[in-house]
Amino acid sequence: MPVKILMVCLGNICRSPLAEGILASKLPTEKFLVDSAGTGSWHVGHAPDKRSISTAKKNGLDICNQKGRQFSRADFDTFDYIFVMDSSNYNDVIHLAQNETQKAKVQLILDAIFPDENVDVPDPYYGMANGFDQVYKMLDEACEVIAERLIAKHSE
Ligand code: 4NP
Repeated sequence: MPVKILMVCLGNICRSPLAEGILASKLPTEKFLVDSAGTGSWHVGHAPDKRSISTAKKNGLDICNQKGRQFSRADFDTFDYIFVMDSSNYNDVIHLAQNETQKAKVQLILDAIFPDENVDVPDPYYGMANGFDQVYKMLDEACEVIAERLIAKHSE
């Protein structure tokens, strides 16, 4: 059984699709499965935002086959690790948890590089075009650390 990791943002079209693509590219597929979801339902069934697709492409990643879906309680059972993009996603996901084991699976993704500082990945949806490059860089740095830790932890 692969180790399963879920990336969560609000819409599942900007940040978490990038996080999914970036982390998946750093992990061996036979051991790890990476998925993403949104806490909101507006973009269920949609492809990622064009700006996320082009930012990924510039960096050698193809994320255009991803499809938006909404986070649900069942994800707490399916996934071993749940990384959220910001504190609002954190509160929304924690609110759905039914016990401490489920809560313990949820981490703010930038804790990997800024531990205990509560740093959010800013939502680039309504922002400037270069917001996507900034988001990509933050996620790439965090996912590098996360991938190293996962590989070390699940190496036998
Ligand atoms: P994301 O960005 O959470 O990074 O996917 C958003 C995309 C769409 C919306 C909100 C956030 N929206 O409200 O439609």
